[in-house]
Amino acid sequence: MCDFSSCLFDVAMKPLEALRLTERRRQLLGSASGRVLEVGAGTGANLPHFRYEHIADLTVTDIEVRPRLQHRVRWTAAAAGLNPARLAVREAPAERLPFEDASFDCVVATLVFCTVSDQQAGLSEVRRVLKPGGTLLFMEHVRPPQPVPAKLFAVLNPAWGLVSGGCNLTRNTLAGLRQAGLPPRLYGTFAGGIFTYGIAPKPA
Ligand SMILES: C[S@@+](CC[C@H](N)C(=O)[O-])C[C@H]1O[C@@H](n2cnc3c(N)ncnc32)[C@H](O)[C@@H]1O
Repeated sequence: MCDFSSCLFDVAMKPLEALRLTERRRQLLGSASGRVLEVGAGTGANLPHFRYEHIADLTVTDIEVRPRLQHRVRWTAAAAGLNPARLAVREAPAERLPFEDASFDCVVATLVFCTVSDQQAGLSEVRRVLKPGGTLLFMEHVRPPQPVPAKLFAVLNPAWGLVSGGCNLTRNTLAGLRQAGLPPRLYGTFAGGIFTYGIAPKPA
């Protein structure tokens, strides 16, 4: 995505953000603390919602780091009065995170595991880099729970993938989390169960 596309993405997301997402981001990210990693940070929509007084350092990653993310990171560090060393940006795919085992207290992923090509590999990497007792904070859209919307989404999925840069409407990410050894505890769902958010702790 070029920076113009990043701006378009933010504009397209505005109605959704206003409806529910921003409020949920704030609720979810308020508990991020210690050494924190964000995967698939996109345009940096989560950056305003961290409580930096609880965060030792934050590393934001994406498979493609856009200028808009770099800019927002610099702006956030300046606005929060953070030493820039506490807020780093790395280009990295979720499936191959360039970090040691058990490096982070908290990993954040919002609207990412619908797009990561190998979801299971990405979730296994999240588990690997989390410390025992550490927590994934997630918000994802998933396959609709009702049979009729689920069928409709399955039909739309190939075309949607083409226009959205590989996003999938049919993933069972909660099952993926369980399979990766990160049993999810839901804070809630919205939009008819299509969006789900909560925490997934790595057992101590
Ligand atoms: C829909 S955007 C979500 C961005 C942001 N997390 C948010 O909540 O607005 C999905 C992001 O996942 C990133 N992404 C896609 N595949 C990825 C992968 N394999 N590893 C890391 N990030 C990936 C994309 O580049 C994009 O920035």
